[in-house]
Amino acid sequence: MDMKCENVERILLSREDLDRITKNLGEQITKDYQGKKLLMVGILKGCFMFMADLMRYVELPCQMDFMICSSYGAGTESSGQIKIVKDLSVPIQDCHVLIVEDIIDSGNTLCYVKNLLKERGCKSIKLCTLFDKPSRREAPVYADYIGYEVANEFIVGYGLDFNERYRNLPYVGVLKPEAYQL
Ligand code: IMP
Ligand code: MG
Repeated sequence: MDMKCENVERILLSREDLDRITKNLGEQITKDYQGKKLLMVGILKGCFMFMADLMRYVELPCQMDFMICSSYGAGTESSGQIKIVKDLSVPIQDCHVLIVEDIIDSGNTLCYVKNLLKERGCKSIKLCTLFDKPSRREAPVYADYIGYEVANEFIVGYGLDFNERYRNLPYVGVLKPEAYQL
């Protein structure tokens, strides 16, 4: 029952595809974090749907927290300047931190966040991203868990936005270039 959206050129992943990918990631995380104190740190806003679904497949006691970072203005390009708009509200020193992101593009956001959390000190730090766009990488960032690799296209839905629109689409689609080249 996919909601139609006139600005979506084609559907990349359906609700069912997303569920399969998320389940698979959750099972790997469950295996890897047995006996460890896991803290999942979501990078808002893009992570909100993915993280909610992912956590349901992580069959371990775990904590969650969120950060809000800004780098993207009203466009499809990262400014490279990262600002922490909302920081963590729990201490991380005795935790194994897993950062949960919607998509790694230039890598500037995660490079900054990962270094910041590393400096604060935690038991370990890993990255889980639903989407990876490796062709656009500027910073040396590698995810430990990757849901799906995308080409150099702008995608929306399932939490991902363009100018704060489309986050509520239950699937992920490629945005028509006309929709952002106005
Ligand atoms: P980075 O710092 O360039 O890696 O930017 C990562 C952030 O840019 C993601 O968390 C998204 O919010 C946004 N972003 C990058 N590519 C896309 C896309 O194709 N669709 C929607 N948001 C994107
Ligand atoms: Mg975003």
